[in-house]
Amino acid sequence: MDRLLIRGGKKLNGTVEISGSKNAALPILVATLLTDEPCILHRVPNLRDVRTTLKILEYLGKKTTYQNNTVTVEANGKLKNDLPYELVKQMRASFWVAGPLLARFHEAQIPLPGGCAIGVRPVDIHLKGFEKMGASCQTESGNVLIRAEKLNSAKIVLRFPSVGATQNLLMCACLVPGETVLENVAKEPEIDDVIAFLNKMGANIHADDKGRLIVHGVNALHGAEHTVVADRIESGSYMLAAAATRGEVTVKNCVPEHNAILLEDLQEAGFALDIGETFVHVHSYEGDIKPLRIRTAPYPGFATDLQAPWMTLMTLCCGTAEIDEDIFENRFMHAPELVRMGADIATEKSLARITGVKTLSAAHVQASDLRGGFALVMAGLCANGETEIERVYHIDRGYENLEEKLTRLGADIRRYNPDRDDF
Ligand code: UD1
Repeated sequence: MDRLLIRGGKKLNGTVEISGSKNAALPILVATLLTDEPCILHRVPNLRDVRTTLKILEYLGKKTTYQNNTVTVEANGKLKNDLPYELVKQMRASFWVAGPLLARFHEAQIPLPGGCAIGVRPVDIHLKGFEKMGASCQTESGNVLIRAEKLNSAKIVLRFPSVGATQNLLMCACLVPGETVLENVAKEPEIDDVIAFLNKMGANIHADDKGRLIVHGVNALHGAEHTVVADRIESGSYMLAAAATRGEVTVKNCVPEHNAILLEDLQEAGFALDIGETFVHVHSYEGDIKPLRIRTAPYPGFATDLQAPWMTLMTLCCGTAEIDEDIFENRFMHAPELVRMGADIATEKSLARITGVKTLSAAHVQASDLRGGFALVMAGLCANGETEIERVYHIDRGYENLEEKLTRLGADIRRYNPDRDDF
């Protein structure tokens, strides 16, 4: 398995170009199941999760081609309406095929995605919504069978504004006759991008002044072409890496307003930023990093996906910072690894207390999840000496061309595979 070797202590310097959003690309790819006509998607990041989603589409009966970040999805015979566990266990987002398959075939059989490293991650909100639309959901031998004689429009109030459930229910509601109203929905920019794509396909979705999503069902959707929105999590990750290494970096082709809270927090911590329409320039800053207390929350709150990289920045603060992780119950696995690199972090339940240290030191560490993995990369970039990171496959799920982008910013980072390469 691949590892990363990072010789730290260099400030990042230069410009980094942001890729298309993983968390928008995945549901948009899944939404192509709602039509038999061809769909063309641009700015699709070349990531493990995207390749898994293409495998899922192929398994279900689509033909996909992927070249230079453009994906074409076409019909290739009759679609299936079940998924094998092999595919679902690779990526929880596979469960999102349930909505489009239920809408089209009134029946879908999908293995329940289990928990994952960052928490239990149930799908009850998805299933409750399907039930409101007239489906029955039965679990047998680890599979959930979702079936409906007839689907009906409904008013669905989500117990929590889940990103996945909002997308899944939206995709289903597009083809359900009548007016479906979704309330307490997720407001992440990725949801807006999915809605933009669905409307291009002929769906009729709009948000009302109370923030509810109103879906007028249509008979069929058609093919569409779409460019995926910039990845705000990748953007934020590079801003944080620039800040932590005290570097001078322009993060290009992003949407700064999607990172509004992070930008405020970075400025409050001491960093000067130039914020344009499509870029953020992080100025080099040698002063004290102010400790802050942040709390993760649904958008527009502080993104849980940026909590781990933020923690790495705070390991170098001047005083004691705090993080409340309010979205996932077990999302501090990077903390003990950061401690191995010299950080001073105490965690208790959903609270992490981080007392700043002068420097981090290189160590042999393991990535335990995607964003926690990036937090370790950041720590490696800051630390004196050579850091070795194992289980890089987690990081590969979400950061396109990571080494190339960091190398262009002046980092000393390389990938190797101990079973294959000599070092
Ligand atoms: C998506 C993102 C992930 C991000 C998360 C929160 C993708 C591929 N993943 O994940 O990167 O960290 O949003 O912004 O886009 N929950 C339930 N029941 C449900 C569904 C969710 O209890 O039916 C809970 C989860 O356990 C979790 C919280 O709600 O505690 C948030 O989950 P959700 O917003 O659904 O996250 P995902 O869509 O899985």
